[in-house]
Amino acid sequence: MELNDAIYQRRAVRHYTDAPVPTPAIEQLLRAARQAPSAVNQQPWAFGLFRDPDLLNRMSEQAKVYLQANLPRDLALHHLSDTISHPGYNVFHHASTLIVIYAKPARFDPIEDCCLAAQNLMLAAHGMGLGTCPIGFARPWLNLPEVKHEFGIPLRYTAVMPIVVGWPAGPTPPVPRLDPEIVCWRETPGRGLSAVPFPFAPPPTRQP
Ligand SMILES: Cc1cc2nc3c(=O)[nH]c(=O)nc-3n(C[C@H](O)[C@H](O)[C@H](O)COP(=O)(O)O)c2cc1C
Repeated sequence: MELNDAIYQRRAVRHYTDAPVPTPAIEQLLRAARQAPSAVNQQPWAFGLFRDPDLLNRMSEQAKVYLQANLPRDLALHHLSDTISHPGYNVFHHASTLIVIYAKPARFDPIEDCCLAAQNLMLAAHGMGLGTCPIGFARPWLNLPEVKHEFGIPLRYTAVMPIVVGWPAGPTPPVPRLDPEIVCWRETPGRGLSAVPFPFAPPPTRQP
């Protein structure tokens, strides 16, 4: 798959078939994730793999209960609160696999590195015909000490990006993107550089 196609066609997939993701495919995703750049090549990531539907259902229920009890006030008033409290709502969208990217303690902020690994993983999955969706809803619950303890995750590891992976049950329509907000655009005046083909107009260059 062309890189641009992957970037433009990847979607947050929320409907999956029951078909499991083969282990070699999971390994391929982890290899793609570890190709991400990281500060001083510290590679501060670790991966949690959850592939048991019964376990994932139980985790979804527990994550929902925790989230509802601890929703930030602004979110509690938001429509998302209705979504989460719906009895049929599964935070993992019934995907067959959950991969949690954990940040290990590292000298230079490891969270950014893990987010880059997550994007690599999601693009690679898309290239393989797999769907993915980051699941921020599950993160607070996954970071509870008792939950880490249950799954043998070191307490000092932080769940940064839970990502469900599975075979899409159908196409996912794109959601709109805002134009990039350009807060600064400086270039050498008179060199015609602003003829760069951009779909959005840069603001006029102002000299200090
Ligand atoms: C940090 C993060 C957390 C997210 N958490 C959730 C989530 O809990 N549940 C969900 O269905 N989608 C979640 N998403 C997916 C976004 O809603 C989705 O990426 C966004 O609407 C743009 O859609 P697209 O990925 O199809 O382009 C999350 C995305 C990110 C980056």
